[in-house]
Amino acid sequence: MIAGKKVITILGLLTVLSTAFAQTTEFKPNYDESKVPPFTLPDLLKLNDGSEVTAARWWTRRRQEVMRLFEEHVYGKAPGRPGTFNWEQKSISMDALGGKAIRKEVTLYVTSNQSGLAMNLLIYLPRNAPKPVPVFLGLNFYGNQTVHSDPGITVTESWVRNNEELGITDNKAPESTRGVRASRWQVEKLLERGYGLATLYYGDIDPDFDDEFKNGIHPYYYRGGQRRPAPDQWGSIGAWAWGLSRVVDYLEKDSDVDKRKIAVMGHSRLGKAALWAGAQDERFALVISNNSGCGGAALFRRRFGETLERINTSFPHWFCGNFKEYNNREDDLPVDQHMLIALIATRPVYVASAQEDLWADPRGEFLAAYNASKVYDLLGAKGLPSNQMPDLSQPIMNTIGYHIRPGEHDVTLYDWERFMDFADLHFKRGK
Ligand code: GCU
Repeated sequence: MIAGKKVITILGLLTVLSTAFAQTTEFKPNYDESKVPPFTLPDLLKLNDGSEVTAARWWTRRRQEVMRLFEEHVYGKAPGRPGTFNWEQKSISMDALGGKAIRKEVTLYVTSNQSGLAMNLLIYLPRNAPKPVPVFLGLNFYGNQTVHSDPGITVTESWVRNNEELGITDNKAPESTRGVRASRWQVEKLLERGYGLATLYYGDIDPDFDDEFKNGIHPYYYRGGQRRPAPDQWGSIGAWAWGLSRVVDYLEKDSDVDKRKIAVMGHSRLGKAALWAGAQDERFALVISNNSGCGGAALFRRRFGETLERINTSFPHWFCGNFKEYNNREDDLPVDQHMLIALIATRPVYVASAQEDLWADPRGEFLAAYNASKVYDLLGAKGLPSNQMPDLSQPIMNTIGYHIRPGEHDVTLYDWERFMDFADLHFKRGK
């Protein structure tokens, strides 16, 4: 007995020590190009049974196959368009921003009785532009009030991540967060060029922390005693992407908005969500990924910067349960991110990188866009012409677009100007 107890104690001690060790051993990202392992990307132009993909077969078979692979192994299946869905316009101003804009606030509900989950949408439209107007749609990180200092924007009451720099300490956004992220949205510049902006706080769809999916949208879809999504069902990125599609359900009904010209744009984790939303929902006429990195535009197989295991460890709620099976097994994953971008074909897609944002692997983002080009080319659209990255600030604007700019992980005026150039080109608008 006593010997047995000792064994248990020693085992216990070892467990404590190994956990402590795991917590203190720091992840060291690879930033050395020469240490990127050799790899072969899954072939976009072969069906799962090995036969060749023609343009016709892309549409009838391969696209669905690739979609299923992403659902099952990466982001998880989402429930689709809800049967009951309604909204309420909470405010409207016809002369916002000194008369330049129409500002609307619209709350979208997933239940018929307007209790439960509420997604608060903020919309700016250029007041003097002929309607309907094209619109950029994007999720924001800390509430709608952060996108502009306009006092007419309702400050979010939802749980937000603490951020000392922004003065958020008790998971509640203070008044002082008005406009703190204005540089990332460039509302006036958008309006000047005739674009509208629709944005909502991503935490309104699913708060971004691991609570085993008790809050946010997931529980609304649990069936028969279910307590968390099954291993092949949606994680948080899947939920944010689903929420973006719910906004389109609304925008389609707003006669001020050109429903054939809705562009989805996202930065970083929200760039991952934008790509997945754009892949699934063809109502997004144009898709923009800004610095989306691992799980977004970057190729997993390069293991440069953030890796698959790292992202699953830091953010266990982002992807579906099955995705964890691929920790340190990138080569066994049946997809890579060039296939995600290819799912958007032949709609225009733009990938933007930042030179200093090595964590997001700019070269991996570029190479995914380049390798997606095979599908664009097959379908008669123009992808990226070469596997050589362009120089800094030398955007490529085919049906696939790409730029890398100097600077760090961020969304800048330069980025927005290129996004608008790209949209002008594809929405056939003069400058
Ligand atoms: C972290 C995370 C990235 C993510 C980024 C962001 O850095 O590791 O994957 O893109 O946060 O969303 O800002």
